[in-house]
Parts: sequence; structure tokens; C-alpha cells
Amino acid sequence: MDHIKIVFSKDTILDNTLFNIHVNDVGVDHAVNENQIHIRTDAVGWGVNNLSIKVLSELNQKTLKIEEFWLNGAHGRQTVYLSYSELNGKKFNNTFLKQSITEINIPFGNPMSWWITSCNKKVDINNYGKDLYEDNFIYYPASREIDSKFPRAQRDFFKYDFDWRIAPKSHMKNLEQTRTIPYFELGLEYDEDSLYQELDRNLDLLDQHKLPKPKQEEYNQIEYPGNDWDVYACIFPKEKTGSTNWKDNFCLAKDQFPGVYELLEKIDQLGITISYGFISRTAGESYVGPHIHKDSEFNYSVYQVSIPLGWTEQSLFKLEGVGVIPTDRCVVFDDCSNFHATVNPTHKTRYIIGINCDFTKYFS
Ligand SMILES: [Fe+2]
Repeated sequence: MDHIKIVFSKDTILDNTLFNIHVNDVGVDHAVNENQIHIRTDAVGWGVNNLSIKVLSELNQKTLKIEEFWLNGAHGRQTVYLSYSELNGKKFNNTFLKQSITEINIPFGNPMSWWITSCNKKVDINNYGKDLYEDNFIYYPASREIDSKFPRAQRDFFKYDFDWRIAPKSHMKNLEQTRTIPYFELGLEYDEDSLYQELDRNLDLLDQHKLPKPKQEEYNQIEYPGNDWDVYACIFPKEKTGSTNWKDNFCLAKDQFPGVYELLEKIDQLGITISYGFISRTAGESYVGPHIHKDSEFNYSVYQVSIPLGWTEQSLFKLEGVGVIPTDRCVVFDDCSNFHATVNPTHKTRYIIGINCDFTKYFS
């Protein structure tokens, strides 16, 4: 059992204040003693964790200021500097609870020794105390429990994470050079159902473009039954054809895959340069273990426009150090830097259309 101690400023009396506290989304009991909150819980995991405090009492003119955070007797000042609240959907550094701000999130790491070094590696010590959320995107992976039928390593990949990310917002403008932004949302509209049906009814055609999976034994436990996934070529890399025009490199039958072709035209029309493309299929009750994309033969852009088809709240896509990312819309992620894994405990096949693109023109 772990012990969390939160210390408020010296003259604070918390005795009559009601709090609702969660560790990793699990409601936890707590005790209040003068200016301290004590939590004893089994909800703390290894790596990155999140504590949220919500005040239920009226605070009126009172302000409660958090000054210290302790985990199992170890103090982590950085934890307080990273704590944040949200107002109108915007995160900002915050250590105050008051009538207008009644909720605080405190990301913290376990063990504290690891967390302190990790924070100091990622954030210049002179920047602590500034509003880090103003100029940076900060990602803390939330712990997720997946179905116990999946192999232990896969379950642990979703449950524990010893990384988190901080990326200057200004890096959006030169994604490929900086490669610090793990993912972002692209407001690309598409007809998910019709694309899903198009792939599903043409599986025999896709099979003709099946890509070899030489690294499959490195991703997954081969003997595990839920190992039914495949990847199919959709756009060849320029090295294979000598052309840099995606239309020359599109390798599926255009009349059989009109939706996919139209989707690519849409991406192209946004000023995004398409350099490579594939389609992945993960069967029901299957998974893909943590991996990154690297191919010494080909030199394509690392940011992948990812179009998930048929994914639900149970079928998850996780980036290491970032967490589970949305699968109900199009996202773009750096698939060469971020270890990623998927799990599909449902009975239905899930697809992803993955298009590697250069965003230089789009952001200039
Ligand atoms: Fe992948």
C-alpha cells in the first residue's frame, strides 16, 4: 500500500473541507489533518500516475494552496510544479483551489527517485514555476487495464508507462525536423462506415498486396492465438517506382477502392505531401505488440495520417509515453519515434489506413 501526503500552506485548516480524490481514475479514501491530506491506497502503479483533487465544499473567499507532494516518504517538488487545472478546455499550471477553480490534477511518478530525474531531464530547472502548459503540449499516459486474455507484456504496456512527453507548441511548424510532437488531430472528414465496408468486401484483393511481416516475431508472441493481423501495401514508397507522385504509386485497383482513392485526394488537396501508404487489419480478439516503423530501404516521412475504421472504446491504440490516443477520428502520429501497440478484444475486425506524409507545405 502506498502513502501520498499533500501539504497545503502553513496556516491552512482543511478539517471542514470536503474533497473527492481519485488516483488513476480510482476513487480513494483520505484523511485530513490540519494542513495535510493523507491517502493510503493500492491504486498507485509503477511509472506515471495521476492524482485528481476536487473540492466539494463552498470555498467562498478561501484559497487552498498546495505546497508539497510526498509519495512513500519521498518529496517531489517537480510534482507540484507540473500540477494543472483546466478552464474552458485549456490547461494551465496551478496549485490553488478556490471558488472559481475547484479541481486540480497532479501527475506524479513512482518511484519518486525516477520521477525527479525524469522531470529534470525533460524540463530546464529555470522553467519550473512558469506556466509550462502555455508554451508546451504535455502528455501523461493514463493507466489502462486491458482484457486478461492478452499476454502479460501487452497488458503491462497499457497499464504502466515510464515515459511522458513535453513538446514546445512552436514545433508544430517544423514537425519532421524536431519530431518532438508525438501526435495531433487532423480535422479530416471521412465516411467511416463506407470505407470500412470497402476494405471488408475487398479482402481478397488486399491479400494480393500483403506485406511481409519479418518483425512479427519481435512484436507478438507467435504462439498466442490472438495473432491475426496483417498489413497491405496501398501506396509504394518512391524508391520502388522512381516517382514521387502518390497517384503513380497507388497500388490498389482504383475502381475497387474508390473511397480510399478519394480520401487520398482529399489529403493531397489540403497541401499535405503523401509519401507512403498501407492498410492494417487487426482481427477480433487480436493484438499488435509494441513496435515502431523503420525500414532501411525506404525513406518516407515519419508522420502517419492514421484513419481508424471500426474502432470502439474497447479496441485501443496506445503510444508509449503519451497514452491511449483517439480512434474515433483522424490523428497524425510519428510512427518511427513512438512505440505503439493495439489491442482489439471485440469480435469485429478493425482497420487502419496509414498514410505517411510530409507536412512542410501544409504548415508553411
Ligand atoms: Fe505500427
